[in-house]
Amino acid sequence: MFLGVDIGTTSVKALVVEEEGKIVASFSRPLQVYAPDGLSREQNPLDWQEAVLSLLQQVSEQYRIVSIGLTGQMHSLVMLDKQDLPVRHSILWCDQRTTKACRELTEILGGEAEVIRRVGNPFFEGFTLPKIQWVKTKERENYEKTRSILLPKDYIGFVLTGEKGTDPSDASGTGAFGFTTDQWDEELLALCEIDSSLFPKVTASGSLRGFLRKDLSNRFGWENVCVVTGGADNAVAALGAGINEPGLGMVSVGTSGTVVVATQSPKPDPSGRVHYFNHALPRIHYYMGVMLSATHSLDWFLNRFGKKGGWSELETAISNSEPGSRGLLFLPYLNGERTPYRNADAKGVLFGITSSHTEGDAYRSIIEGISFGLRDSYELIKTLTPIRRLRIVGGGAKNKIWVRIIASNLSMPLEIPKTDQGAAYGAAMLAAVGAGHSDKEILRWVQVAETVDPHPEWEKTYQESFRGYQKLYSTLKEMFSLYPPQA
Ligand code: XUL
Repeated sequence: MFLGVDIGTTSVKALVVEEEGKIVASFSRPLQVYAPDGLSREQNPLDWQEAVLSLLQQVSEQYRIVSIGLTGQMHSLVMLDKQDLPVRHSILWCDQRTTKACRELTEILGGEAEVIRRVGNPFFEGFTLPKIQWVKTKERENYEKTRSILLPKDYIGFVLTGEKGTDPSDASGTGAFGFTTDQWDEELLALCEIDSSLFPKVTASGSLRGFLRKDLSNRFGWENVCVVTGGADNAVAALGAGINEPGLGMVSVGTSGTVVVATQSPKPDPSGRVHYFNHALPRIHYYMGVMLSATHSLDWFLNRFGKKGGWSELETAISNSEPGSRGLLFLPYLNGERTPYRNADAKGVLFGITSSHTEGDAYRSIIEGISFGLRDSYELIKTLTPIRRLRIVGGGAKNKIWVRIIASNLSMPLEIPKTDQGAAYGAAMLAAVGAGHSDKEILRWVQVAETVDPHPEWEKTYQESFRGYQKLYSTLKEMFSLYPPQA
């Protein structure tokens, strides 16, 4: 059996997969996010470690694993001291405290065009390098103690094998990796006065990180278990959805929402609004738009005010509303927004409320607002590369109405893969590659279960609502910066 392990933001997931790609079991452990203020989002790497070891224990009680593939949240910064212990909590991909650090680094490097020329993207608050710069200026002591820097799945790789390293898909999300050279940009790091020896060696996503440590093998009763390097969650989820050639794309509706389209174009987005990263397959890149609060917006609403009855209750409520939510508009910028606005000050808004609106209108507007956010990314990527086909994965993809709302917004059919276990499935595919299977063999695991077409009437309605959604942001933009996030 192969094991895919995904270090997510809300949970760690482990997926047991058979030789031919059939899922036999899935386990998970919830994770806590520490949010000490309106901008900071942190996790304790020791929480990931404890969750992974307890999952392996549980898996080992029933299954014999030959290879483990790793994936996890992108960009989140892990700093280790000379004893290889975490120096501080990890600063996460959705943390927004580094706006000033982004500006400082961009200035040092001679402007945004130069940053994009080197690393394929401008610096975003979520990226790793601005976080390192933030620690360097705000927590000098912690920076001085740091001997190595890793990404979440690489920290777990280190815990499991004692070997440090990363792969191109995660390295490209740091903001310090040359996209033409596929190596750390030593010159950039020297200019930023960040020691390049802190960064680990980079090897392919399907390469062997090492073998499971002896003490752990003994504890789990396994022998010679390969631990495979793996890759960034978006790249690995794309692999898990079969996105393996230019023009194929994926919409992922998870805590964050992403639109990913594979490309062989050597050109990043000159406007810097769409990310350009390495795929988990060699010689392929992808363009990606990221919204920071996709299902997170819905979860927030449900947890704070809402329905405890789960999706079916919600589905009834939104079916009682109408496409366009009878004039309600929702901006899903609960943690600021990346694509298309790059604005850490942006906030959530529910606009247009009158006393005749119902609960169903509110829920539907949230789902539509998240779908408009995905449309923003899709429209931008379309200007950079042709998009031939799109698949949809993630929690949001489990709900047919929602998939249809998204398809109607993109005016494109959406294919739902048979196996929708996101990045954990892609990680299991990489575990198989590490154990000797070819890319071609593992890609055969992926099949489409069904295709959801756009609804012609809804397409028309959303054309108008989408314009209103975009206008609402531009109208409120100034207000957002007058009221910085407080809690
Ligand atoms: C991508 C990003 C998020 C995280 C979520 O740039 O920040 O999608 O990878 O884990």
